[in-house]
Amino acid sequence: MTVLAKHSAAINAVTKSRDAVDLGTKWAVTGILFAMFARPNEIRYFCSVTTVENQPKIVLGVTGGIACYKAVELVRLLVKASLRVRVIMTKSALEFVTPLTFQTLSGNPVATETFDLTQESQIGHINLADSADLFVIAPATANVIGKIASGIADDLLTTVLMATRAPVLVAPAMNIHMYENPILQENLRKLRRIGYHILEPAEGYLACGYEGQGRLPDPEKIAEEIKRLLRKKDLCGEKFLITAGPNREPLDPVRYISNRSSGKMGYALARAALRRGAEVVLVSGPTALDPPGGARLISVLTAAEMRAAVLKEYAQCTAVIMAAAVSDYRVATISDRKMKRGKDTVEVRLEPNPDILKELGQNKNGKWLVGFAAETEELTANAQKKLREKNLDMVVANNVAETGSGFDSDNNAATIIDRTGKTRSLPLMSKDELADQIYDHFLALKSPR
Ligand code: CTP
Repeated sequence: MTVLAKHSAAINAVTKSRDAVDLGTKWAVTGILFAMFARPNEIRYFCSVTTVENQPKIVLGVTGGIACYKAVELVRLLVKASLRVRVIMTKSALEFVTPLTFQTLSGNPVATETFDLTQESQIGHINLADSADLFVIAPATANVIGKIASGIADDLLTTVLMATRAPVLVAPAMNIHMYENPILQENLRKLRRIGYHILEPAEGYLACGYEGQGRLPDPEKIAEEIKRLLRKKDLCGEKFLITAGPNREPLDPVRYISNRSSGKMGYALARAALRRGAEVVLVSGPTALDPPGGARLISVLTAAEMRAAVLKEYAQCTAVIMAAAVSDYRVATISDRKMKRGKDTVEVRLEPNPDILKELGQNKNGKWLVGFAAETEELTANAQKKLREKNLDMVVANNVAETGSGFDSDNNAATIIDRTGKTRSLPLMSKDELADQIYDHFLALKSPR
């Protein structure tokens, strides 16, 4: 950039008379002047650093809520991370922050609800929809979420969103009771089902005076999520068979034995693989989760059903990730009638279920196998043993006795061990982030540099 600085006076003189926010013009003029005056080595340097047109473009929709102030900081962070940002503000957002703030920070004109011809010619609303690499709405009010979920496009933001084919990230922020409202939750479920990414609001003090879930996450967290979603599609060509959730082993027509697995890790793995371009078959035990849009879902209950589904799909996949908490035992004799209550102690005999992953490991046929190791002690040693005995490429070990990590949690602190002996202990992170780490490790193992 020192090279550029030498010519900046000339550039500024030419561009000063124009609208200061017309960054495109400024870059064009910069290019011409630079080509006229720069020496060849400077041009080579310039070409290597000037990739503005290649920088991913974020269209950020800002809706009216007190959390708008965090969107200002978000824009600053995104620009700092070399992302191009175009902001669309709704009418109510204008009550909280001025467009000038976003314009100054993004270096781009801000689209508002005021449809005037000058704005239209400068911004081109459909262009905005087409040019987005990622569409983000932060903060997203209950109102905008309701409108999107119902297919309503009655203002600029919802119209541009309707026209975009880019992935969408929605970051809701509102009062806790609004957030818990079943209508809002149903709308979010609908958006998730069609493949929108939802960034869960944080918990804490809310502007309305309540404490609870509803805060817009910190701008740093939203920026991280945006960067994660912008990753390139480096899993194209992979067909992942992913298992998730618990099994249910029936005792009688009304009772079953199960475990605490929520399925969140397997579902996060499915979402991340889809986002990074892979095909996904998700074999899932019973969970309360929405299936990720784009995955082929096979729902099962028992370990025997899971085994049958996995073996049926195995030949067509390139890799298997067994994130399911497979039931190690099933009830030896399932009563066909409800077991009646009595005074005597009841003994239930359990017999072992087959080890699905071990079976796959004995018949590898060039497939990549990733297992999980849920441990409460001797984490690394036990995980290494599983890696060896099940003939795996990678094992993801986690201490399920730790609070805030593992079963039913949104977060996980795991250690990845691969067949070359490489071990990476990761700090506590969201299961979505961990899923990406697992795929990064998978790719590095597959194609070592
Ligand atoms: N697994 C499997 N079939 C089973 C049990 C486990 O495919 N019957 C898979 C799990 O999905 C996981 C890995 O094997 O990827 C390890 O599971 P885990 O429950 O940690 O260990 P187990 O092999 O069951 O051994 P233990 O319960 O004694 O730790």
